Amino acid sequence: MKVVIEDSYRALSRAAGVAVARNVRDKPDLVLGLATGSTPLGLYRELIRCHREEGLDFRHVTTFNLDEYVGLPVEHPQSYHAFMREHLFRHINVSPEKTYVPSGMCEDYVSYCRWYEDQIQAAGGIDLQILGIGRDGHIGFNEPGSSLGSRTRLKTLTAQTRKDNARFFESPEEVPRFAVTMGVATILDARQVLLLANGKKKAKAVARSLEGPVSSMWTASALQMHADTTAFLDHDAARKLAHLEYYDWVQQQSQGDN
Ligand code: F6R
Repeated sequence: MKVVIEDSYRALSRAAGVAVARNVRDKPDLVLGLATGSTPLGLYRELIRCHREEGLDFRHVTTFNLDEYVGLPVEHPQSYHAFMREHLFRHINVSPEKTYVPSGMCEDYVSYCRWYEDQIQAAGGIDLQILGIGRDGHIGFNEPGSSLGSRTRLKTLTAQTRKDNARFFESPEEVPRFAVTMGVATILDARQVLLLANGKKKAKAVARSLEGPVSSMWTASALQMHADTTAFLDHDAARKLAHLEYYDWVQQQSQGDN
């Protein structure tokens, strides 16, 4: 795994933005996997800037979001549909029919999740997946104990995740108990992965996931098995890594270690 450590959240967002923009330019019909939450907001601002100032063209890009809360209709302000509209889609020229965000309002999730996986396949698979990481090491909403072979499905959120996400809701009880999420294996199928993390709160999850044993208790650790993952970190998120000096050294050599 390539580990890039930047001086600030702004710098890591910009570095990740440069990587995404390069991919869109190289492959205008890129299939892009997207995350929600606080972490990718700076990256999305950077992509919006590239679209406005440099003409970065999203017309032929297809997007697939990782997850959605169960029980929130698309117009609910805390739904991930609303999040994506507000923070990215309405600011760039992506085609609405090419943006997929899982539905949190299904009757039959088994069929729906299979359909979602089929759409990813039909689009040619995800070229580049953007990820944040939960304090418990989750990617998507693959909470500790999730099968590393899991595909898109319903998942019960942990108390920690509901507490972490309560900041977006009026009261903690309003945080949904379930989410529909791409599985760990769905994520590992992406050709390239960018994992973003900033802040001290993520330091333990980052260290366990990047340097600890591969374990379903820290689902981001499954990325150690992925051949093309880059972790973009700030110093706070990187502070518990044992091999910091080596990552700096690799960065100085500007070689593309994975
Ligand atoms: C969101 C997602 C989650 C978040 C994670 C970190 O689509 O898949 O895994 O990336 O919970 O959230 P933030 O960025 O808010 O700290």
